[in-house]
Amino acid sequence: MHKIIVANYKMNGSKKLYRHILNKLNKLELKDTALILCPPFLYLPFFKISNDAIHLGVQDISNTINKKSTGQISPKMAKEFGAEYSIVGHSERRSLGETDELINQKINVLLSSDMTPILCVGEKSKDENLNIVLKQLKDAIKGIKNHFELIIAYEPVWAIGTGEIPSIAHVNKVAKSLRKFLDKVDVDYKILYGGSISDENYQDMARSEIDGFLIGGISLEVNKFIEIVKGIDNE
Ligand code: 13P
Repeated sequence: MHKIIVANYKMNGSKKLYRHILNKLNKLELKDTALILCPPFLYLPFFKISNDAIHLGVQDISNTINKKSTGQISPKMAKEFGAEYSIVGHSERRSLGETDELINQKINVLLSSDMTPILCVGEKSKDENLNIVLKQLKDAIKGIKNHFELIIAYEPVWAIGTGEIPSIAHVNKVAKSLRKFLDKVDVDYKILYGGSISDENYQDMARSEIDGFLIGGISLEVNKFIEIVKGIDNE
């Protein structure tokens, strides 16, 4: 599997919309691209996948396996409904107070349950020092000793849902610093880009040194999403 495209449906959708989306995605024939679909927890049971290229993920996970955790969902529960991945540390959760420490706990909980984290990192504003991105990554995986798998989504917060995207040079600079650090860690990783990816700009961004995309808004517009997926798969 060469490229990865993750759909983060956030708090969108309905049974009707997801039926429509899945009808189309299940028919896709992909050569070298894996799709990871991350619906809200409640809809996981409706995600009947009949396509080997498609995998399921969730948008968040409990930081503990302690059952006295009202409102939380454990990896064991998510796995029972087919989820193999979980987004962790999305900026929309960090903005609710999720700390690097909580994110580190969630990654540990996921890895001990054989689920793969999709860790989101990214600077808040355009003028912020990019060292923050590397620090978010280091804090998230601090203390992990054994070999592990990780997907990192570089999502500059200022690019999420705004229609603005960073330059390829900017994305390459961040990806290079993350790779330089990760190449010294016992980890298999992929680096994705997320933030305002659309059918109009994905080809440009695909020229940067990344392994795929994390897509929000456009993942709900299934025809445009499929255009992106096919375009990437045919590269
Ligand atoms: P948009 O693609 O809507 O900008 O969202 C990106 C994102 O937050 C994916 O996690």
